[in-house]
Amino acid sequence: MVFDPVLFVFLAIPVYVANSTPLLFSKVRVLGFLDLPIDRKKFFMGERLLGDGKTLKGFVLGLLSGSFAGLILGASFLGFLLSLGVVVGDLLGSFIKRRFRIKRGRQWFWDSIFFVVFALVFASSFFSVSWEYWLILLILSPLIHRLANVLAFHSGLKNVKY
Ligand code: CTP
Ligand code: MG
Repeated sequence: MVFDPVLFVFLAIPVYVANSTPLLFSKVRVLGFLDLPIDRKKFFMGERLLGDGKTLKGFVLGLLSGSFAGLILGASFLGFLLSLGVVVGDLLGSFIKRRFRIKRGRQWFWDSIFFVVFALVFASSFFSVSWEYWLILLILSPLIHRLANVLAFHSGLKNVKY
């Protein structure tokens, strides 16, 4: 199978849109239950289940923005699957991070990996995504993640550069 740059863009855009929108809107307060952490501040094995960084607002925004990006590209179902994978993978990432006792917002190598893997696994349930796309997205991901965090730091969205 030949590498198709168009398919690559169709995968990458919904994934990174879904992953970065929650951060962009993190300072925007939406009243009510949407702003609450998904884990409702519950503890599990002596540590927060997910942590304050995972709100319903972020989950919904990630899902909607990535799906919208897919819609604009003319690949709505693919965009929806990728975005769902991103937000679910992000939650699982935080769950595992907390099990290793790494605090919310602290840098962790796997931060930029889980959401990509889940996005591609979800997409692969209906589309065939060959290994080249996985490889490039996984290599690109830590770089994009890093860039987004540095930009978020300089624009005042984050207090730390990671
Ligand atoms: N965010 C959110 N809801 C989500 C995901 C993200 O509200 N489901 C917002 C939070 O304000 C979060 C920010 O986007 O702090 C950045 O997301 P991320 O880096 O995934 O969260 P962290 O704060 O680093 O938390 P963790 O250590 O659990 O990854
Ligand atoms: Mg983080």
